[in-house]
Amino acid sequence: MRHFIKETDFTHAEIKHVFASAAAMKAARSATPPSTLPLARQSWGLLFFKKSTRTRVSFQVGVSELGGHPVMLNAEELQLARGETVGDTARVLSRYLHGLVVRCYEHSLLEEIAQFGTVPVINALSDYLHPCQIYADFFTLAERWSNGDPTRFLESLKGRKIAFLGDTACNMANSLILGGALFDVEVALAGPPGYEPHKAIRAQLLRDRLTPTWNFTTDPFEAVRDADMLYTDVWVSMGVEAEKSERLRQMRPYQVNAPLMRTAKPDAYFMHCLPAHVGEEVTQEVLDSPSCIIFDQAENRLHIQKAILAQLSARN
Ligand code: CP
Ligand code: NVA
Repeated sequence: MRHFIKETDFTHAEIKHVFASAAAMKAARSATPPSTLPLARQSWGLLFFKKSTRTRVSFQVGVSELGGHPVMLNAEELQLARGETVGDTARVLSRYLHGLVVRCYEHSLLEEIAQFGTVPVINALSDYLHPCQIYADFFTLAERWSNGDPTRFLESLKGRKIAFLGDTACNMANSLILGGALFDVEVALAGPPGYEPHKAIRAQLLRDRLTPTWNFTTDPFEAVRDADMLYTDVWVSMGVEAEKSERLRQMRPYQVNAPLMRTAKPDAYFMHCLPAHVGEEVTQEVLDSPSCIIFDQAENRLHIQKAILAQLSARN
């Protein structure tokens, strides 16, 4: 059974295909002839343990547009919340559904669902990784850097430099580290001392036999120098709210603002997975600037996830 739990679950050839089919689906949205709808007669469960706007709506719409039926599952409303095991839940849901999209806290829960279930599992964000977001983000950059030529998407990413500011130990930072190695992009991370990327993500690169392309500094200006894109995420991810005041204090020097943007390349883009906390990790001025491409990123979640769903359903 093939799953999409981490960025490296697809081969290079598959990623190329996913990007090309996302571009084709984007160009002909909702125009796929019914006879070729890849999820026809299928029901996909969307199981969420955490809040979501973009991911839940883009998956719900995406499954529908591919001819499938999305089934929204709030973890709090399942017997899981009353102690039923993850294993039994996965076995039972596999008897009804053709696939499961899961947003959770511990990444190991995704692996457990994949182990006990018998349908493909897609990671819709865990505390460790957010692979659908990263594919959408690199797709968004590739569209621009290739001038919209899908045959040049992957090549247009090679050798670029991106900088990530703020919580350099969060799921988005981990996913950028993996994505950077996959797409041959330098990832310069800048965050407070103590927020260096964890051992787990370094071990993941080794397991996937990928050459690391990331580096870490506590100096935000050093990280963004010559960068082609600046990325940030919330300073308080879902699940670490108890650390809020300490994090806001420590991450303050890593806010993406106009002086930091000016230190990057003149045509550098600004990206954020959203939701944004204005005045914390980013200023309104940056969000309002022409370099900000956050809504293209958000839109591309839909197109890339449709391509991921189609790829998984063809492979399983
Ligand atoms: N970027 C992202 O995953 O957004 P949501 O939390 O709204 O799904
Ligand atoms: N790092 C954030 C990403 C939200 C899309 C979180 O996990 O809350």
